[in-house]
Amino acid sequence: MYSLEAPVKAAPQRGRIPDPCAMVTLGASGDLTHRKLIPALYKLFKSQLLPEGFSLIGISRTPETDESFRSKMKEAVGAYFEPPDPEVWSRFEKTLFYLPGNVDSPDVYRELIELFSKLDKERGCCGNRLFYLAVSPQLYPTIIEHLGKSGLSCPLSEKNWSRIIIEKPFGHDLNSAHALNDKIVQYFKEDQVYRIDHFLGKETVQNILAFRFANSIFEPIWNRQYIDHVQVTVAESLGIENRGGYYDSAGALRDMVQNHLLQLVCTIGMEPPVAFTATSVRDEKTKVLQALRPIKPEEVNRVTVRGQYGDGVIDGKQVQAYRKEKNVKPDSRTETYVLLKLFIDNWRWADVPFYLRTGKHLPKRATEITIQFKRTPHLVFARVPEKHIDPNLLILHIQPDEGITLRFEAKVPGPDIHLQPVNMKFQYGSSFTKPVEEAYERLLLDTLIGDATLFARGDWIEAAWGFITPILEAWENDRTPIPVYASGTWGPSEADVLLAEDKRKWRNP
Ligand code: BG6
Repeated sequence: MYSLEAPVKAAPQRGRIPDPCAMVTLGASGDLTHRKLIPALYKLFKSQLLPEGFSLIGISRTPETDESFRSKMKEAVGAYFEPPDPEVWSRFEKTLFYLPGNVDSPDVYRELIELFSKLDKERGCCGNRLFYLAVSPQLYPTIIEHLGKSGLSCPLSEKNWSRIIIEKPFGHDLNSAHALNDKIVQYFKEDQVYRIDHFLGKETVQNILAFRFANSIFEPIWNRQYIDHVQVTVAESLGIENRGGYYDSAGALRDMVQNHLLQLVCTIGMEPPVAFTATSVRDEKTKVLQALRPIKPEEVNRVTVRGQYGDGVIDGKQVQAYRKEKNVKPDSRTETYVLLKLFIDNWRWADVPFYLRTGKHLPKRATEITIQFKRTPHLVFARVPEKHIDPNLLILHIQPDEGITLRFEAKVPGPDIHLQPVNMKFQYGSSFTKPVEEAYERLLLDTLIGDATLFARGDWIEAAWGFITPILEAWENDRTPIPVYASGTWGPSEADVLLAEDKRKWRNP
């Protein structure tokens, strides 16, 4: 059984500048460091949210000096954010350092310890350390072990901290996730570990909690008495880009559902936490997973649909089939689309279906959660047939066009009773002047502050894999051809059939 973190601590104070520290990115020459980490740190620095003395040490095998590393990072900020402001950059680059080395060998950790004490003295990093694993997941166990054996996983003193950020994929099934968690807890306590799920850093996902728990009018109807079903759509118009090698051994269920979509389900489905602390929020989310109705192997085909994109047209451009992508097997059975119907067997949600779908090469990029309410119990407008009265919908637009829509019926002006659905809309863009923050900025800052609320806890990860793994196994044993959908369409027709059998219909964004 996975052991939980220590009992509740007071929530770290938001809005405060983190303690001085040195952060290490292992995998500094990789895509993640260039695309996400460095631009996010630069933005935090520019907004004066990084502490005095903050230092970043990049480690990878590529031979570099501090100077050449700095100039590469400058290019990365230019390419993935904006051309750096010369004055800000000249101050920011002084925080960047480079240590060439192989993360497989103990030498680099010895050198790191020396560099840490030098930076503590010269820059006042005060002995606090953050390790960011931006490497291939096969290296996670080795790095964790080296950090443990070199003593780096332990805080320098009672006043110091040592934390680790781990990127997805966190395992590829229940056994591997369990083994990785075991390795971590050998050297780190749960409250030192920050497993990133970047969906949790999205403003709109955080706002679901505010919407539910900072308003009194929605919670009384947030249950099986009023809700007919919930739809979660995470549609992407992009394909797999240059990630064929990774994606072909993962697929949409592992890549998106096990983490991002289940996090969305938990955010919608959880009970009110006692407080907005890492322990309370994550306890409630884990309870949702514990209540998921397990899917038996013989049921898998009834509650899931998978598909793979074929040739097609997106935004007027011809795009090629998944099997023709680089580093994808020509006879690959990997799914690029998945639909999953699930139930949360508890008092609040009994028998309310949650329909989840995600896919690549769909007509547009849109992430939305639609809560469909039950029809009115009695038809007052006798001359309007029931099929002309649409149920109420609450649509949470996660991205793009972030906002919330409430759809209800209204009388069309005129002498007769004609009804028509109308929308009440909240949009971030018009209600707030501040731009929506990038998920990585928020999550990095939370890690520096020591707030794990928006990170996946070890027991949550294992519960998620526990639910997903039987589906993966059933698919593995099923050799029937995988449905192919034309790129630029809303997925295989089987997805519409599954909902039609339940007398429901997908709401396409
Ligand atoms: C990642 C997946 O976790 O999330 C990608 O590995 C996917 O396949 C991406 O494209 C989607 O994230 P976002 O923030 O672009 O919706």
